[in-house]
Amino acid sequence: MGKTILITGANRGIGLELTREFSAHGWRVLACCRDPQVAGELKNLAERLPEALRIFPLEVTDSARIQELSAVLADEAIDILLNNAGVSGPERQDFGAIDTDAWLRTFRINSIAPLDMAAAFVEQVARSRRKIIATVGSQLGSLTENTEGGMYAYRSSKAAAHMVTKNLAIDLHDRGIIAVALHPGWVRTRMGGPEAPVMPRQSAAELFQVLTSLTLKDSGKLWAHTGQVLPW
Ligand SMILES: NC(=O)c1ccc[n+]([C@@H]2O[C@H](COP(=O)([O-])OP(=O)(O)OC[C@H]3O[C@@H](n4cnc5c(N)ncnc54)[C@H](OP(=O)(O)O)[C@@H]3O)[C@@H](O)[C@H]2O)c1
Repeated sequence: MGKTILITGANRGIGLELTREFSAHGWRVLACCRDPQVAGELKNLAERLPEALRIFPLEVTDSARIQELSAVLADEAIDILLNNAGVSGPERQDFGAIDTDAWLRTFRINSIAPLDMAAAFVEQVARSRRKIIATVGSQLGSLTENTEGGMYAYRSSKAAAHMVTKNLAIDLHDRGIIAVALHPGWVRTRMGGPEAPVMPRQSAAELFQVLTSLTLKDSGKLWAHTGQVLPW
């Protein structure tokens, strides 16, 4: 049986590399991005892999569009639903200097959209063989690992995404669904910046290993790209 992954934010950064990685391993990829028109690299990849890679427009804060896409893909079995799309939030987000509207928008994208996606695609995931809902969280969203403070919007939105994941792991356990959060490393993307030590390709290759090794006992945890479990 074919293996299928749906990835949000697949046009650049870690999402694009995950799309490359999974298709290179023979997976079918349902690649979602806000604006396929300008997703040059993703479109080139899809031209080379017409059978394996399909592109769908998806702004993850648009719940109506999420529902519409779920209806279009109603007959699919989705082995991995991968909530990758994310933002770092407002430029200034230190104590006493945060734009609360921008913080709310950060929450909408990083914490609420993953749950919206999980609710919309749960049937497609439940009928697949692997049954995985994965959300790219972050070590910066770990309460235990927070020793530096700051980054209020990003840290809190990723901590909330982690809590959503933990809840999904509990609520969907009896359907055999695995829910995990992922830390991809500090990765050299537009978000991670030029100083980041991990290249997107390496992160994607390591996340592939993590995602394809998961079993139900691994659900409800924050997995680093290295294969380590990080504390919440
Ligand atoms: N890079 C790191 O060091 C690092 C570390 C820990 C966690 N992460 C997480 O890893 C994930 C990917 O990050 P990245 O480093 O690849 O960042 P990136 O290069 O900035 O890419 C972010 C992706 O998310 C998409 N996106 C943002 N808002 C969206 C929305 N409202 N609807 C749909 N798509 C949206 C972007 O699409 P557009 O092109 O349309 O903007 C882009 O495809 C994020 O969740 C991030 O928080 C990254």
